Formats: sequence, C-alpha cells, structure tokens
Amino acid sequence: MTKEPQPVRKAVFPVAGLGTRFLPATKAVPKEMLTVVDKPVIQYVVDEAREAGIEHFVFVTGRNKAVIEDHFDQQVELEQTLRERGKQEALDILAAGLPAAGQTSFTRQQAPLGLGHAVWCARELVGNEPFALLLPDMVMQDQPGCMSRMMEVYRETGGNIISTEAVDWEETHKYGIVEKGAAAAGGFRITGMVEKPAPGTAPSNLYINGRYILQPEIFSILETQATGAGGEIQLTDAMLKLAEKQDFFGFTFTGRTFDCGSKEGFIKANLAYAMWSRKMARSLGPELRELLDSIKPVDG
Ligand code: G1P
Repeated sequence: MTKEPQPVRKAVFPVAGLGTRFLPATKAVPKEMLTVVDKPVIQYVVDEAREAGIEHFVFVTGRNKAVIEDHFDQQVELEQTLRERGKQEALDILAAGLPAAGQTSFTRQQAPLGLGHAVWCARELVGNEPFALLLPDMVMQDQPGCMSRMMEVYRETGGNIISTEAVDWEETHKYGIVEKGAAAAGGFRITGMVEKPAPGTAPSNLYINGRYILQPEIFSILETQATGAGGEIQLTDAMLKLAEKQDFFGFTFTGRTFDCGSKEGFIKANLAYAMWSRKMARSLGPELRELLDSIKPVDG
C-alpha cells in the first residue's frame, strides 16, 4: 500500500444476546457483566479496544442491558464515598476502566435477528468509516492485545481483516470458517468463508474468533442480507459478498481465546487471568493442584 488507510476510530460491541446458556446467573444480570476475576467480561473487551487506540465505543444492546451503560459511566455516590475514605487505589481502578465523556454510544437491536442485524444497527453511529468489531463473548488474552496487533496489520494492508485461529475439525460447524489463500501481512488472504458449515464440509479449520476490522460498505450489504445459518442474518454471509469487491485478510491470532459464552470457557478465563497475577497464582496454584488430585464429580 502506498497510501495510509483511513484510521479505525470506532468499535462496535454487540451486547444484545440473552445468555441463555448461563441461566439462572443471567436472569437479571447481562452475561457481559459476569466477572472474570475482578472485571466484567465486557470490560476486558473494551480495554482491548482502548489499548488499540479506539476513540468511540458503540454498544448494540437490548432490553435488560441498561446496567452495561451504568458500568461505563461515573458512579458519583460511590466515588464520593471512596474519596471521603481516602481509598485512592479503588478510585484509580474505576478511573482506569472508564472511557471519557462522549466516547460511548448505545443503540438497541430491538429484535434478536442475528449478528449481521446487530452490526447493521450500528450503521448510523459508525457512519462512513472503517470500524472494529469485537464480540464480547470472546475474551482474548495476549500482550499486546489481539485488536492492537490487527491494527498494526491494517496500517500496512488496509481493507478488511478478520482474526482467525485453528480449531478441531469436529468443532468447525459451530463457527464461521475462512478459506485460506496466499500469505499476506499478519497471516493470509481470505478466498472464501462460510457460517457454521455442515460437518465435513468446512473449507479449512480456521475459525473466525470474534475480532474484525471492517469497511463501512458492509452496512449497505447487511441492509438487504437474507437470513442464513440458524435462520439468522449472518455477518459472515455479508462479508462474503463484500469480499467480491474488497480485500479480506485473515489475521492469525496466537494468544489464548476464551469463549465466555460457554461455562467451560468462562471458567478457563477466570483461571487464566487469575494465573496472570503473581500474587493469586502463588496462593491459588497449590490449591488447584490439590483439587485436581481429588476430583470426584457429585452429579453422576
Ligand atoms: C458468531 C459468528 C461466527 C464466529 C463466532 C465466534 O457466531 O457468526 O462467525 O465464529 O461468533 O464466537 P455465534 O457465536 O454468534 O453463533
């Protein structure tokens, strides 16, 4: 590329999902607010976007998600009390996770019509510029974060970038899968993609793991996108159409991904982040080893 591509300033977070896999925990609390160690899941994903230089955070929410908006606002009474008590460390923690005033926007998806529809709901707030898309179920552990690494590639390639990683072939039917072309910066060119391919039909075992950089032309395609896998409006189907006109690059993510939409992924994320803290690793490590040695399931 001779010319610098248009910078990515905005990020979209689709947070309208119901979280049925986590009932009853998610009856009154959005799944994105469940905590991994000491932060809600959504905070990890927003922090990853902030680290990558994102300046505006667009949340596509639904009913019962108002607490996410509260989380990314000041909590005046709490901060007042902490100040009176001289709890500077707690105040610093709150300040560190807070985007500046005016940096967040919220819109509602209104009906659960699929990821493609959720992204389309952000069209007015994103406008005519490239944007990052981060699926909050997926917590990605790496330093620097996945989106920072993708931005680096984007500055070189422009176009559209999808983060991918390898998955067991038996698992390919659960995800969006890309077809791998020639090598390119950060990974490879994408020559095809399919959402939740029937078992045995996937073009590769490289799955879309929930981080994207997309050009705004995706919105006009989503506008008329028919339903696909699972009867939902699929982002992958719209991206496939955009790939007829624009470049799509696959970024190969080499950190750890935790699908916090599943119980196992959520627990693994808790353990992995706990072990990232030297203090916690020291106290938890021996106990975990002991637990593993004495596994005795009680549910049959
Ligand atoms: C969505 C995407 C899929 C991607 C997955 C990652 O699927 O449609 O392409 O692989 O997220 O988690 P969902 O998990 O909403 O079924």
